[in-house]
Amino acid sequence: MKITTIILAAGKGTRMRSELPKILHKVANRPLLQHVYDMSKQLNNNEITIVYGHGADLVRSTLKDLSANWVEQKQQLGTGHAVQQCKDQISDDDTVLILYGDVPLLKLGTVSQLIANVTPKSLALLTVKLDNPTGYGRIVRDTSGKILKIVEEKDASPDEKLINEGNTGIMAVQGGLLKKWLAQLGNNNAQGEYYLTDIIEMAVADNVEVITSQPDTVDEVLGVNNRVQLSHLERVYQNEQAQWLMEQGVTLMDPARFDIRGSIEKLGIDIIIDVNVIIEGKNSIGNNVKIGANTLIYNSIIGDNVEILANSVIENAVIGTGSKVGPFARLRPGTVLEDNVHIGNFVEIKNSSVAVSSKINHLSYIGDATVGSGVNIGAGTITCNYDGANKFRTVIEDGAFIGSDTQLVAPVTIGKNATIGAGSTITKDSPENQLTLSRVKQTSIHGWKRPTK
Ligand code: UD1
Ligand code: CA
Repeated sequence: MKITTIILAAGKGTRMRSELPKILHKVANRPLLQHVYDMSKQLNNNEITIVYGHGADLVRSTLKDLSANWVEQKQQLGTGHAVQQCKDQISDDDTVLILYGDVPLLKLGTVSQLIANVTPKSLALLTVKLDNPTGYGRIVRDTSGKILKIVEEKDASPDEKLINEGNTGIMAVQGGLLKKWLAQLGNNNAQGEYYLTDIIEMAVADNVEVITSQPDTVDEVLGVNNRVQLSHLERVYQNEQAQWLMEQGVTLMDPARFDIRGSIEKLGIDIIIDVNVIIEGKNSIGNNVKIGANTLIYNSIIGDNVEILANSVIENAVIGTGSKVGPFARLRPGTVLEDNVHIGNFVEIKNSSVAVSSKINHLSYIGDATVGSGVNIGAGTITCNYDGANKFRTVIEDGAFIGSDTQLVAPVTIGKNATIGAGSTITKDSPENQLTLSRVKQTSIHGWKRPTK
């Protein structure tokens, strides 16, 4: 059975007070519409159609990678009108699933249940019991509990407004029936809109059973209309991820102060994550990793037994087993640390590899460098990799010792087991096993006196 998913996403979202179309606002750094798309993408034999309108160009260009039919709704004349625009995408035998682009946390299980309720003689509708149903269409039932219709808030009588079962807007129905009812929609109502919800009354008239189901939690079906709701759903989403991580064997010092804005593709166990850690992009984290407070990890691969101390920023980097990084370290793109490497405070590394057991413990900049194994780089070492136009590499071979406050002017190679005296400016290759230093000889001036005022 083929599923045609229609995601309604043409609305403006006036209450966001934003230049950005509402569905491009993000939860966990992913546009709202992308959440809905990613979930529905998991349904088998499913073709997705997105109805867009407000901010058309920006929506299309931002989400150009989605594999979906894009249908423009030039004027937003209501949810029914939006679905009408998709009639060419709907075949009679399809099961059509209607989703909203601004309802990001809907679960696959809830949707699968809904779809399972669709037959040629039944429509499936997702409803929700609400403490405060204000703003929602109300589900009107007869005394036996059978659905009669949905009435929109603005069209509801005082009695109907007391109903606390709300319409989520999410439904599924056979394509042939849907198209028949879409053709009959009018806009004679309080808002002058073509309401998709009017098809419920038509189904009842056609003796098509309306089968309702409910989500596990209300949060699943909450839409985003303003930034308060956006922040609520962000917290719900982050809490779900935190719960999931803890179930997988991760200790979170405070699940409420931890965010994943991306994914952890490979996750070890006995990871301990301190407060205010943010993980973005695609990452992998090995066993027994400790991540200190206020650390940002972006698109990185972290091996087993790694310790990252507080306030470190790690981006597009690979950290080998047993390495130690931070506090206050910055690993920039292209950093590859092999096993047991130590990177200390106020060290910045960019586009460089550091081999086994090397140490760069304090206040250094290492850029465009190849650092061998067992190397010790003293405090305040700087690779001068850039002449203002071009970048050059520094090679530091195994076992080298770089004295503190040294500048290595690239391109330059420091030989195996070479020692560089502190305070040197190294502009030429330094031979292996030797001490190289470029330092003005120290002198003391005998009998020198300080000037007096
Ligand atoms: C709709 C439902 C209401 C339900 C509520 C749940 C109707 C008539 N009412 O009301 O019963 O309780 O959702 O949140 O369906 N959209 C378009 N084109 C349009 C109009 C809307 O694409 O012309 C999209 C919006 O971008 C949004 C979704 O449809 O994603 C819902 O639209 P919205 O205006 O929020 O509907 P409500 O009036 O809240
Ligand atoms: Ca809404």
